[in-house]
Amino acid sequence: MTHTLTVAYTEVSGIDQLTTEDRKLLKEAWTACGSAYAPYSNFHVGAALILANDLIFRGNNQENAAYPSGICAERVAVFSASAMYPGIPIKSIAVVAKTEVFNLEYPVTPCGACRQVIAEYETLSGQPIRIILQGNSEKIWIIDGITNLLPLMFHGGDLKK
Ligand code: THU
Repeated sequence: MTHTLTVAYTEVSGIDQLTTEDRKLLKEAWTACGSAYAPYSNFHVGAALILANDLIFRGNNQENAAYPSGICAERVAVFSASAMYPGIPIKSIAVVAKTEVFNLEYPVTPCGACRQVIAEYETLSGQPIRIILQGNSEKIWIIDGITNLLPLMFHGGDLKK
């Protein structure tokens, strides 16, 4: 028997099609992107999330001369929020990327490890986390919950009988 899963995302062309909150979050993500520490890849990523208590946390990629010791923007933001406000649900996270090396026409989607981390906190709160993405163009993708990026995910329930 074959099971088919559907994933969905919405593309809008321009920030004027976003809610005030999403626009603000995207702006915060671009601010974070501006101070990314990415001397090795020159690929600058910024993230900003808003918690259910309306506090905003920013993160950006932090690279390291020992390459695997670096960490992505999304995880910096999510871990920082969870460290400061454990258990407060994340409503939305905006992620943006830029590089001087070429033009990023389409938004960059979170890497597998970051999807797994976002999934952890979505499972914890039981509420979908909206993901807002932008590259170096007017195109913005909106994804309503991590299951659209990580179907058939591994989660804590799998560790128990
Ligand atoms: N990066 C992120 O910050 N987030 C992602 O989802 C994809 C990749 C960073 C990691 C590394 O510093 C650089 O982008 C190139 O992979």
